[in-house]
Amino acid sequence: LQPPYPHPYRFLLNHPDKCRGRTPFLVLLVVTSPADLAARDAVRRTWGNESAVPGLDVLRLFLLGVHPVFGQELRPLLLEEDELHRDLLQQDFLDTYNNLTLKTLMGLEWVSRFCANASYVMKADHDVFLNLEFLAGLLRPPRSNFLTGYVYRHTGPLRNRAYKWFVPREVYPNDTYPPYCGGPGYVLSGDLALRVFAAAQTLPLINMEDAFVGICLHALGVAVTDPPPGAFTMYRLEYERCRFRRLVMVHHYGPRELLRVWPHFSQGRDECP
Ligand SMILES: *[C@@H]1O[C@H](CO)[C@@H](O)[C@H](O)[C@H]1NC(C)=O
Ligand SMILES: *[C@@H]1O[C@H](CO)[C@@H](O)[C@H](O)[C@H]1NC(C)=O
Ligand SMILES: *[C@@H]1O[C@H](CO)[C@@H](O)[C@H](O)[C@H]1NC(C)=O
Ligand SMILES: *[C@@H]1O[C@H](CO)[C@@H](O)[C@H](O)[C@H]1NC(C)=O
Repeated sequence: LQPPYPHPYRFLLNHPDKCRGRTPFLVLLVVTSPADLAARDAVRRTWGNESAVPGLDVLRLFLLGVHPVFGQELRPLLLEEDELHRDLLQQDFLDTYNNLTLKTLMGLEWVSRFCANASYVMKADHDVFLNLEFLAGLLRPPRSNFLTGYVYRHTGPLRNRAYKWFVPREVYPNDTYPPYCGGPGYVLSGDLALRVFAAAQTLPLINMEDAFVGICLHALGVAVTDPPPGAFTMYRLEYERCRFRRLVMVHHYGPRELLRVWPHFSQGRDECP
């Protein structure tokens, strides 16, 4: 449950120049698994479309590891997809649930090395609905040492092996986690993304990527910021245009649903009070 870290994981797919000469307002790091082309395409065509919000400079990248069984077979397909969209980041670790922390750190490594001037970084799962226009409103003027999302407080590791989120005492001895933001979607200021990545080089990794970011924050002495109530929703909400205009994230939206609701959502802006 504790992958080797720090470890010189190598980029198998990378876009070191994507940010050159740019200062994106938001670097959007989207977690998908290698075989999940449908999810990536839905994200590209909906909330992950870099030009969906006029005037907002968004840089989108997908985070991938190597498929634990079909790594070789998927390689040519990923190369082709990346040639077309130029938005895949992949390193040579196995793409498994317990390696999710490595994906997040790969994204933060990329920002640290190749896009250190970004104002904000958002880590998002592929199965969410996102409203970047509303998010951008919350993020201006740009802040530093800032992290927000759905905040968990007073939680602790699950010690029972039967759980998907099991964290053994050897991996994390404390009974509680510092406050952290839920993995499906959280936002950090660019400077904090760099500091979290640096802190991660010195701390024992845990397999819960979101709690691990909280542990890094605790080590840095930085507090999470609560978003406006209801802005990040961890349970599923039925789509409703005017309600979705006034929030940032809703969890549990698959590719088909994203493609179904997006045309309606992205039109009719003036119809909401
Ligand atoms: C992204 O949004 C722009 C502006 O609305 C649109 O012209 C373009 O077709 C969209 N791209 C995709 C892949 O959906
Ligand atoms: C994480 O990736 C590393 C490097 O590929 C691999 O050795 C390890 O088995 C993976 N860990 C898990 C829990 O999948
Ligand atoms: C980042 O911004 C600083 C100050 O605006 C500038 O000097 C520097 O060249 C920028 N770096 C990159 C990589 O764009
Ligand atoms: C773990 O517990 C120790 C002892 O109470 C405390 O000093 C430390 O800050 C805790 N670490 C985290 C990440 O909460």
